[in-house]
Parts: sequence; structure tokens; C-alpha cells
Amino acid sequence: MISQKMTDRINLQINRELYSAYLYLAMAAKLTGQGYAGIGKWLTVQYHEEMFHAMKFVKYLAEQGAAVKYEAVAAPEIKSAVVKDVFKQVYAHEQFVTGSIREMVELARAEKDYATENLLAWYIDEQVEEEKNDTEILQLVDLIGGGAQGLFMLNIELGKREAKIALDFTKV
Ligand code: FEO
Repeated sequence: MISQKMTDRINLQINRELYSAYLYLAMAAKLTGQGYAGIGKWLTVQYHEEMFHAMKFVKYLAEQGAAVKYEAVAAPEIKSAVVKDVFKQVYAHEQFVTGSIREMVELARAEKDYATENLLAWYIDEQVEEEKNDTEILQLVDLIGGGAQGLFMLNIELGKREAKIALDFTKV
């Protein structure tokens, strides 16, 4: 049986995952609008990943007989439309999400809620992957430089990303 406190915390995390999805969707529109269709595709794939993260929590609450509560999702704020700055914001955002998941693990441990702790292990691994992706892109940006040719190559490279998660949320 899951506690009300943990149910509330998971619902907060669902909102944070939905905000993440919304942020990446907004970034995708912004970058695609600037002519970076490849980077826009990378960000759109990330949007799908975030929706998957949210729906995995939704499914878990349903399995636990706990109520899902959807709150308003804040408007996404893009701090800069410069490519490198966008990925710096992406990285900072993912570090925030990692901190949020870690807080949940602490709560699960305090409550001896082993089922939720077990679920959260998947998210901990996922955050390692996401932060790794972001640091690699930032390294790539530095490597190829911020000139037109470098950004042209980065756009092609990031456009190769394909979704690894199920886009059908009944399969989360
Ligand atoms: Fe759902 Fe990007 O963490």
C-alpha cells in the first residue's frame, strides 16, 4: 500500500515530467523555426521520452490503486535560442530532475516503500543516460565550434536520433 505522501510526491513528479515534455516541445519548435530541423527532431524525441516518464508513473499509481492528479503545467521558459545555450539549459534542467528523483528515493527509503524504491531505480538509471547525452552534446558543440559549418554538422548528427521508448503509452 502506497502512502498519501508518496502518492502526492509521485503526482508532483508527473507534473515535472509533463513540464519537461512541454519544455522540449517548445525548444523543438524554436530551433526548428531557426532552420535546425535535426536539432528540432532530437528535442521532439526527448519530448516523447518525457511523456513516457510521466506515463510510467501514471501506470504505477493505477497499479497501486492510488489516484492520479493532473495539475496545471507551467508555460515553458526558453532562456536563450542560441544552440549551445539551449543545451546548457537542457543539462541544467536534467540535473534538477535528477535531484527531484533522488529526493523521491530518500522518501521511499524513509517510508520503507520498497516497491516505489524499486520503480525509482529505473528513473535513476534513466537520469544517468540523459545527463550523459547532454554532456556529450555540449562536448560536441565545443569540438566542432559554434560557427555555421559546425552547427550545420551538429544539426545533421542530432537529426539521426530515433525514439527508443514505446510511443504507445499503453505499453509503458
Ligand atoms: Fe524525465 Fe528528462 O527526465
